[in-house]
Amino acid sequence: MGQPRHRIAVIPGDGIGQEVTPVALAVVDAVARRAGITIEPVTHPWGCDYYRDTGRMMAADALDRLRDSDAIFLGAIGHPSVPDHVSVWELILPIRQRFEQYVNLRPMRLMPGVSGPLANVPAADIDMICLRENSEGEYAGVGGRVHRGTPDETAVQTGVFTRRGIERIVRYACEVARSRPRRLLASATKSNALQHSMVLWDDVVDEVAAEYPDVTVRKYHVDALAARMVTHPRTIDVIVASNLFGDILTDLGAAVSGSLGVAPGANLNPERRHPSMFEPIHGSAPDIAGRGIANPIGAIWAGALMLDHLGHRDLHDRVVTAIERVLADGRVRTPDLGGQATTADVGRAVVDALS
Ligand code: NAI
Ligand code: MG
Repeated sequence: MGQPRHRIAVIPGDGIGQEVTPVALAVVDAVARRAGITIEPVTHPWGCDYYRDTGRMMAADALDRLRDSDAIFLGAIGHPSVPDHVSVWELILPIRQRFEQYVNLRPMRLMPGVSGPLANVPAADIDMICLRENSEGEYAGVGGRVHRGTPDETAVQTGVFTRRGIERIVRYACEVARSRPRRLLASATKSNALQHSMVLWDDVVDEVAAEYPDVTVRKYHVDALAARMVTHPRTIDVIVASNLFGDILTDLGAAVSGSLGVAPGANLNPERRHPSMFEPIHGSAPDIAGRGIANPIGAIWAGALMLDHLGHRDLHDRVVTAIERVLADGRVRTPDLGGQATTADVGRAVVDALS
């Protein structure tokens, strides 16, 4: 038996995705190498540049080429020259949907030494994790647009909620809640206004919660939950949310954790029938792209989540501890966290802090 090897399909994508991805992979490679594990990245040039050259966001056989990888690492997708509904719908959503990555796991923590916009909140008070439903809901792509260009033009975008889809994300969230000390689960609902989809959501939450008597499940309307994440973040542990609600709540969670640049995400196929995909939650940040100042910590942390998924919980912990050391030390930080360091400086500091 040789040492473990993992084939990683890498899509750096656009803007700062191209800047943070190599830094994150360098950290993943450094920590793996020390443990005798080989990471074999296979990089794909897909994204908005590829679209300008070929009229496609990915190669025609992209999904087949990704299928055999042990995991997919994505930087960010999006460029001002390509409409976002094209770039997102032709690259990110097909991967999430085809590979049944129905769990979108997003930790939100105020790291030691980082001052969030909530003054005087200690790091221990912001430690949330969101399980976002990642395959249906408002991003199912069902709907249409008629009478284009006329005064009667109409668009319908339908939310798709299935018992099976809700049940599997809520069960996954209950498992995550059970694995954490506080065992608290907040369900983001809006059943007062969305009387079909969110009432089904609530019903299924009740049914699944009954199987987890050791987990305390509370329902919050999504707007109230958003406010609570700011006013009482300490009361939030694990969140389960629909696709749209989870998308919004996790940008908020990242913001109260100091910066969008710090937050990671994992798109998981828990049954492991298909590869899972790991990415920072931020986009391509055209406003700072090309300047080498993007914060790579979200991407590095996403790399840690990938190592965990590949069976290396110890390496995940080592990378997260290294991130904590660099942030707590405070000398090497990108401008979004008030520092002057570059993307590469932060990457080197995290590698140095691995030991
Ligand atoms: P964004 O996340 O790219 O940027 C929002 C703000 O946060 C900007 O001011 C940006 O400079 C800052 N920021 C983001 N990441 C940062 C980092 N690592 N370090 C320092 N500052 C950082 O979101 P925006 O502007 O809404 O979208 C830009 C493009 O990215 C669009 O084309 C959008 O569709 C795409 N996008 C792609 C995503 C993905 O690939 N998963 C997710 C979100 C947006
Ligand atoms: Mg988002």
